[in-house]
Amino acid sequence: MPQILALYGSPRREGNTATLLKRAVQGARDAGASVEEVFLRDLKMSPCLEIYACKNAGRCAIKDDFQKVRDRILEVDGLMLASPVFFYTVSAHTKILMDRCQSMWVKKYWVDEEKIRKVALPRKGLFIAVGATRGKKLFDGILLTVKYFFDVMDMEMWKSLLYRGLDFEGDVLKHPDYLDQAYETGKAYALKVMSA
Ligand SMILES: Cc1cc2nc3c(=O)[nH]c(=O)nc-3n(C[C@H](O)[C@H](O)[C@H](O)COP(=O)(O)O)c2cc1C
Repeated sequence: MPQILALYGSPRREGNTATLLKRAVQGARDAGASVEEVFLRDLKMSPCLEIYACKNAGRCAIKDDFQKVRDRILEVDGLMLASPVFFYTVSAHTKILMDRCQSMWVKKYWVDEEKIRKVALPRKGLFIAVGATRGKKLFDGILLTVKYFFDVMDMEMWKSLLYRGLDFEGDVLKHPDYLDQAYETGKAYALKVMSA
């Protein structure tokens, strides 16, 4: 059975992105995938300290909850990530995880001396984002950030679900079409992961 990791990046446990990701998780489970859910807000995770101890061991030297998330990220067949737009990028909880994954970049390119090359990335990621405003460029920053986060994990963005104009907790519940889309996308994503 394919294993998918679902990372909840919002500080709100029942917020808009969490509600959407829960629907996607349900869709993936209904399609036959095993999904593990992790709420980043519940983890004890230091920001990257930029000491580059990862240059020696090939993994981050800070002993906290990052270590087990890192192991799961490397083991799973697929990753779902949801984050609100905070100042045109991901939430702080999500960014802390991303910065700690710099240790994976270091392992790849400095420790293992892989060459940067264009290859088809076998693992696919699903990304969900929500912002309060409606500007054309609302998701430009966050999409770039997430694309390169997935890239470090040898993962390619399979699809992103992006929703504007949602601010207060519960706003997304006024849009059953968004919730249905998240459910159907989760299902389709699991089928994609299973067929890989
Ligand atoms: C610190 C902070 C920064 C934010 N920055 C933006 C922003 O740059 N653009 C925007 O449209 N909304 C911004 N928002 C609004 C959130 O994206 C919006 O409330 C979203 O629905 C929250 O999703 P959640 O319920 O999953 O946490 C910000 C909210 C906070 C708390």
